[in-house]
Amino acid sequence: MTDTPPAVPGPEPAPDAVRDPVPDPVRGAAAPPPGCPAHDPDGATGEDAAPDRLVNLFAPGSVADPMATYEKLREAHGPVAPVLLADDLPAWLVLGYRENLEVARTPARFTRDSRVWTLFKEDRVPPTSPLLPLTEWKPVCRFFDGEEHRRVRSAINDSIARLNRRGIRRHVNRYAGRLIDGFSGTGEADLVGEFVEHLPMLVMTQLIGLPDEDGPRLVDASREVMNGAATAVASNAYIVETLQSLVARKRAAPGHDLASWLIGHPEGLSNLEVVQHLRVILVITNETTTSLIASVLRMVLTDPRFRATLAGGHMTLLDAVEQVLWDEPPFLTLPGRWATGDTEVGGRRIKAGDLLLLGLAAGNADPAIRPDRSAPMLGNRSHLAFGGGAHECPGQDISRAIADTGIDTLLTRLPDLRMSVAEDELHWNKAWVTRHLAALPVEFTPVRAARTRTGPDTGAVPRAEASGGAARQARTPERPADGEPAAAPEPAVTGLWPAAKRRLLRR
Ligand code: HEM
Repeated sequence: MTDTPPAVPGPEPAPDAVRDPVPDPVRGAAAPPPGCPAHDPDGATGEDAAPDRLVNLFAPGSVADPMATYEKLREAHGPVAPVLLADDLPAWLVLGYRENLEVARTPARFTRDSRVWTLFKEDRVPPTSPLLPLTEWKPVCRFFDGEEHRRVRSAINDSIARLNRRGIRRHVNRYAGRLIDGFSGTGEADLVGEFVEHLPMLVMTQLIGLPDEDGPRLVDASREVMNGAATAVASNAYIVETLQSLVARKRAAPGHDLASWLIGHPEGLSNLEVVQHLRVILVITNETTTSLIASVLRMVLTDPRFRATLAGGHMTLLDAVEQVLWDEPPFLTLPGRWATGDTEVGGRRIKAGDLLLLGLAAGNADPAIRPDRSAPMLGNRSHLAFGGGAHECPGQDISRAIADTGIDTLLTRLPDLRMSVAEDELHWNKAWVTRHLAALPVEFTPVRAARTRTGPDTGAVPRAEASGGAARQARTPERPADGEPAAAPEPAVTGLWPAAKRRLLRR
């Protein structure tokens, strides 16, 4: 890869194809179009608006209700809108479905190589910017194009393809069972803190070849990295060290796991490349799959449209997963792509070196392809949740397997699971790129732990550890000798749920 990819200017748009006035997000805004929410004090950003009055995606109003913000931007600007980010740095937000695909699928015009960003070249991105973790160029596939990208992606794709689907589901079942054992006797839980936030990382550590005992510590470390906690740097160092020693061990004695397959791939990845890509995989998997599982669970437990459809017997758990990937994709926006030369998209003139954010959530809601957003998508997989083009997510089937097997296990173990707070009391831990439910309090009839064993291989996550707080008094009865799910007390299964769940799980 070169530092400055060849500039390939796009076709100069016909003058009437370009919306006027055209704010130039990098060099300052032109006069606002009438009714533009970016300039409306009551708009999405209100008094939080940036000095030049463009919508700031980091403003509390935008973060609190990103979908409403995207719709106001779409109404005012069409499929591509000028926005501001942290420190009032300008960018384009791609809102149209087709425009998102155009940007994602045309690397000659829109590169992943962030080193061409005008704001980097002009030294306008502060060293403390929250944009840096996602935009600062690193030698990993996310920032590669062309042959360099093809080489690493073929190693990643081939290694992921070797994973045995049944093996993935077995790991998910095992870890989901252990997590459920941590709270099943109590009759109440926060499913996000005690189940959802742990499952993806525990499963991924197995798939990449780490021992059981590394799982819980990596869950905490990766959460701290994502939250920007005071210990984020140390946690990141811990993740890298853990992966470095894994790669050294697997190079000496390969096993049946992602680390060994990446190391042994004919493309000849160096140890550093393997470590860096395993890290990308762990961090991406954890946040995104956590978000996906939490949203699907909320939908299963609360959405009347979904439950009504269930009663009609049409929607499966897999349908619910795809519906969430349409309506609440884990990555709301994705930074990004950078224009390799002056070009045009969605009627906007884009300058060489401008940053474009893929608006995955906005694109999924584009009325041009989804005039009725309330219509169920029934398993349709053409959403943008996994991106598009050469960088489209290679792990999508893994995350689907973790989500639907994990939820299947949960509903089977706790069949009368129900929310213990009103839906409007739920809130999200908000971020401009990804977000997930902060908590999902539920109640159910207590059941005995089914799988918890003593000894070194239990891997069971004690409640205090899982929730990060003090353990509540478990009302778990004695474990039955045969280790099977406890027969008593049987959950009181009432109402729609048992029949609905049977249909939900039908494939
Ligand atoms: C619900 C879960 C997930 C979501 C929503 C998701 C979404 C995405 C998106 C939007 C991208 C960027 C695509 C682009 O730039 O056009 C991406 C890239 C990537 N994802 Fe995922 N992902 C998920 C799970 C996973 C899992 C489980 C793995 C690993 C096994 C994984 C590995 C990767 C990698 C390595 C990349 C970089 C690919 C590249 O740049 O070529 N993801 N993912």
